[in-house]
Amino acid sequence: MNVTSAVKQRYSEGANEVQDELCCPVDYDRDLLKLLPQEIIDKDYGCGDPSRYVREGDVVLDLGSGGGKICYMAAQLVGTQGRVIGVDMNDDMLALASKYQSEMAGKLGGDRVVFHKGYIQDLALDVAAMEDWLADNPVTDAASLEHLHHWQAEQRRERPLIADNSVDLVISNCVLNLVDDRHKAQLIREIHRVLKPGGRVAISDIVSDEEVPAHLKADTELWSGCISGAFQEEAFLDAFRQAGFLGVAFDRWDSTPWKVIEGIEFRSVTLTAVKGVDSPCLDYGHAVMYRGPYAAVTDDEDHVFPRGARMAVCERTWRFLTESGVYGSDFIGFAPATPREPVNFCAPPGTRRSAAETRSGKVAGGDNDCCC
Ligand SMILES: C[S@@+](CC[C@H](N)C(=O)[O-])C[C@H]1O[C@@H](n2cnc3c(N)ncnc32)[C@H](O)[C@@H]1O
Repeated sequence: MNVTSAVKQRYSEGANEVQDELCCPVDYDRDLLKLLPQEIIDKDYGCGDPSRYVREGDVVLDLGSGGGKICYMAAQLVGTQGRVIGVDMNDDMLALASKYQSEMAGKLGGDRVVFHKGYIQDLALDVAAMEDWLADNPVTDAASLEHLHHWQAEQRRERPLIADNSVDLVISNCVLNLVDDRHKAQLIREIHRVLKPGGRVAISDIVSDEEVPAHLKADTELWSGCISGAFQEEAFLDAFRQAGFLGVAFDRWDSTPWKVIEGIEFRSVTLTAVKGVDSPCLDYGHAVMYRGPYAAVTDDEDHVFPRGARMAVCERTWRFLTESGVYGSDFIGFAPATPREPVNFCAPPGTRRSAAETRSGKVAGGDNDCCC
């Protein structure tokens, strides 16, 4: 059996009967759980709580939404202007989540959650629409297979399940590890595609502290149990960086492993990251200063910021470092003292900006002024 079939079978069982060995203890927000049906709370196969990253008004996409728990929690946080989309490939899980949709819409005061059948590594493909099409156009030979591929390409292009640049926040709870290794890079590219510029990611998942050996990966019971398909911890961050995300971090990292197998620790983490905005890199003369305490830091675009130095950055990077919230108050931003015609490229990495160029410009992220 391949890993996808094993995962489908395991989570069909999980939708029908609680599977204790798939449950990883999670400290969810009790207030958000109060509204949820007990069956959905019981059939929880998550390992973290990405709902805590949801903001009012967000369009949220939950990858591998299972019984719908995180979607229904997120729906309480997005408010009347936001909405939540759950995607899962498993019919039994989709049936469980949908069973409570009208009850939850009543409790929420609006139907702001939708569940779609799809593969999270191929978020443009509408699997329910494809199944309808296949009922009338069964694949029986090479020609009909080619016809299907043609239909899929057109559907992805003309009527994508999840459109480009359409989501504010992608969340997921214990699912990425279940995706076949051959599709993991494509999965992360898909997350990047569907996010709006400036959109955020919060992925709770299991990681391993060293590379999982082939004989464990070949064990479909361990794979479908959210263990042997886990990313190695550093590779998990690197994969998001490679796909173009910025500010990639472990926002949460459980010190106690969930499982230890052949000495390898498997633990729950939550990865956060941001999709950069697509505005051009224009140099108006801005600078940022890294406060410390480290001697220097490097961001995901390979800018190096020595502690205490006014470093030249384009306006886009200036906003990201000082306004996006990703870096807290690590950077102080200096707008140019005298705005100048923008130059359409970044100053070479390592370029400093003199105090005279930035003095008396607007300061972002400074502390309160003090007069003695
Ligand atoms: C461990 S459960 C987690 C469910 C849910 N996120 C929760 O917190 O309870 C994994 C879910 O991901 C779904 N899943 C796994 N691989 C998938 C894929 N490639 N595409 C879509 N859904 C997938 C499974 O069907 C299952 O519902």
